[in-house]
Amino acid sequence: MTYEELMQKAIEVSEKAYCPYSKFPVGACVMTDDGAIYTGCNFENSSFGMTICAERNAIGSAIAEGKRKIKAVAIFSPVQDNCAPCGACRQVIHEFCDNDNDVDIILQNGNDLKIFTLAQLLPESFNL
Ligand code: THU
Repeated sequence: MTYEELMQKAIEVSEKAYCPYSKFPVGACVMTDDGAIYTGCNFENSSFGMTICAERNAIGSAIAEGKRKIKAVAIFSPVQDNCAPCGACRQVIHEFCDNDNDVDIILQNGNDLKIFTLAQLLPESFNL
């Protein structure tokens, strides 16, 4: 799948977001090292801290299918251009790759895509 197609999947799943509190929908589409695709949206809770981000929702689906290596993540919000992953999600993406330089984070920038590596977005990541 192309990065444009990954972004299209992220756009589509953002319509499923459950975000009555923030009114900030997010969709994410993860591609694993075998080329498989997993989508997720954010879902909130009246106990705000229980909110799950779109990225971690998508990653959870990949993990449940036995996947362990992320190659790319496309992220989209209809209410914010260049919606970038939160710090927690950056660390979770890091958990499932061998090299942060090899993971592309794809954002929607107007009619274009803006692409970062995970290494750019998460310098000095935490490792046990
Ligand atoms: N959100 C995500 O889904 N991903 C991020 O990386 C940042 C934040 C969601 C969580 C919450 O439902 C809403 O955006 C506002 O924080």
